[in-house]
Amino acid sequence: MTDSSGYDNLRRLAAQRRSVRRFTSEPVAHELIEMILDIARLAPSAGNSQPWEFVVVEDAETRRRIARAATSLFREARKRDPSFNWSIAVQPYLLRAPVLIVVLGDRRMMAAYPSILRGNVLLRQSLANCIYGLQLAATSLGLSTAWGTLQGGRPEEEIRALLGVPDNFTIDHIVPVGYSDEQEMACAAALGPARERGPRRRPLDSVVHWGRYDVTKMRSDEAARDFIWAESVTRVVPDPDRTSGAAPPV
Ligand SMILES: Cc1cc2nc3c(=O)[nH]c(=O)nc-3n(C[C@H](O)[C@H](O)[C@H](O)COP(=O)(O)O)c2cc1C
Repeated sequence: MTDSSGYDNLRRLAAQRRSVRRFTSEPVAHELIEMILDIARLAPSAGNSQPWEFVVVEDAETRRRIARAATSLFREARKRDPSFNWSIAVQPYLLRAPVLIVVLGDRRMMAAYPSILRGNVLLRQSLANCIYGLQLAATSLGLSTAWGTLQGGRPEEEIRALLGVPDNFTIDHIVPVGYSDEQEMACAAALGPARERGPRRRPLDSVVHWGRYDVTKMRSDEAARDFIWAESVTRVVPDPDRTSGAAPPV
């Protein structure tokens, strides 16, 4: 009979992990950070390119400057896409996490990928794998994480200069790590409908097709749209009177 204890542990961890955007100021032991990064580096990567490197940032002023750079992009984006639920973005809160793990991708490793697959897709996919491993490892140690995306431009260059990162590395992902501030999470949950509630997952049966695509399971366009508005937590009807989604000053 199959021993499912490993699976059960993994299932528990995967279900327990969630994005946490409010942290206590309690520091995280270096030993724990190393354990987390040890799991991250074991991730599979395209062509075994292992393009990842990590800058671990603890200094408060550096975290503040990273948060400011990461948030500047979002302030601009808010103007262009007011229905996006910016209140769920971790970027303004990065400074409140005691540790920021800045995930670098070594562009030179793209030479390991087949030339027919242009661009940095495989690089990004490899980094994403490693970050999920990192997040699960953190969860297993009672720590919380989130995921902050950068999209190049000035924010990335500011962070590059701040941390002395050479040009051959991408800086697309920042993972805050710390202990969840449950009290603040509860306050945030009371502020808005979609804000900070644990995102639900689609049921297993609705996403699995055995042997052939079962079109009877395919969501209608309307259901797909409804999902984005109701479940993805990323879309809200813009409400000029509601200020709770405003980013705090960093
Ligand atoms: C590729 C990727 C990019 C993400 N970028 C951001 C981001 O920029 N800011 C943020 O707050 N969360 C970001 N997230 C976190 C997602 O919003 C979050 O994982 C999703 O809403 C599910 O919630 P959960 O992590 O609590 O299960 C990102 C997640 C992934 C996988």
